[in-house]
Amino acid sequence: MNTYARFPLTLVRGEGSRVWDDNGNEYLDFIAGIAVNTLGHAHPGMTEALSAQAADMLHCSNLFHIPKQQLLADRLATLSGLDATFFCNSGAEANEAAIKLARKNFHDQGSARRTIISATQSFHGRLLSTLTATGQDKVKIGFDPLPAGFVHVPLNDIEALKQTINAQTAAVLLEPLQGEGGVNIADAAYLQAVRQLCDEHGLLLMLDEVQTGVGRCGTMFAFEQAGIQPDILTLAKGLGGGVAIGAMLATESVAASFGPGTHGSTFGGNPLSCTAALTVLDEIESAQLLANVQQRGEQLRQGLRDLATHFPVITEVRGQGLLNGAELSQEVGPLVAAARDKGLLILMAGPNVLRFLPPLNVSAAEVDEALAIVGAVLEGS
Ligand SMILES: Cc1ncc(COP(=O)(O)O)c(C=O)c1O
Repeated sequence: MNTYARFPLTLVRGEGSRVWDDNGNEYLDFIAGIAVNTLGHAHPGMTEALSAQAADMLHCSNLFHIPKQQLLADRLATLSGLDATFFCNSGAEANEAAIKLARKNFHDQGSARRTIISATQSFHGRLLSTLTATGQDKVKIGFDPLPAGFVHVPLNDIEALKQTINAQTAAVLLEPLQGEGGVNIADAAYLQAVRQLCDEHGLLLMLDEVQTGVGRCGTMFAFEQAGIQPDILTLAKGLGGGVAIGAMLATESVAASFGPGTHGSTFGGNPLSCTAALTVLDEIESAQLLANVQQRGEQLRQGLRDLATHFPVITEVRGQGLLNGAELSQEVGPLVAAARDKGLLILMAGPNVLRFLPPLNVSAAEVDEALAIVGAVLEGS
């Protein structure tokens, strides 16, 4: 079905931060499958690990113990400070699981709290629950009746949140940095105040790190930069480096509300997808990719700011690690197309923001090359 307005391009092969189309043309890939190809394309370690796992077993169902799933859950627990993980296949599924777990947790306490507060301009996925949680009306049109129990507040407005919390509120769901909504950063002070409010009112803080997590923002999870800890955390996109996997993590006491029969997934956490995620985590560690993300991110933002001094059409450059946006005073669609014609794949985040999401192992030379193309595009526009 025609759910994507596709670029006029057929990609058939990739290597590192580069991809090739079916006519043999080469592109620098600063989309990375929309923040998915963490290690770039055709990473040799990934190819080897997936081939070996495929030769052993692809899938056996969660009716059985799965050693790689246990290993991955242990790794994620150590990295996040949370205790238990539910595995699924996408970001929307991870958020659906988070919403269900939060509600069930209050049900189990004999509490009537069920409402989820999320932010305007947020994006949480396309399932009925997650598009209702999403703070953008355009994704909801035509899908009513929508599930009850969702309200929205502006990001970075702690007073608005205070006034919205009531006896029905169960949880606050936020992206530490809104990716789809325009590369909007939740201030560290705001996230700290939200954590404090949640503690005062006995609410769960759920962070959607589907786009920001797994090193994308320069720390393993973006929440680390605010010095806070969520009660529930969702991951997907970059976790499998291109193999579909989603994860919903929670503290032990919250996770206890999911017992046999309360939730499930046929494919979630199968041996293949867990092998992919373990390979991603291994490589982030052994290749010291977090340092690269921080340095390349700084280089990219600085380069974009330098461009802004020559091209005042760039009004703001913002981002963390390798999730960056340049806001322009004009619509950026034509610039995305012009960059593509010059061999650079970039995305939009809303009508006025160019979004840059290269693989986490992108090189300094590749970032310079991308900046040169953006400069050439602005020159010609
Ligand atoms: C923050 C966030 N949450 C959830 C989703 C939905 O993820 P998926 O497309 O894997 O369902 C996205 C996708 O863009 C996202 O950016």
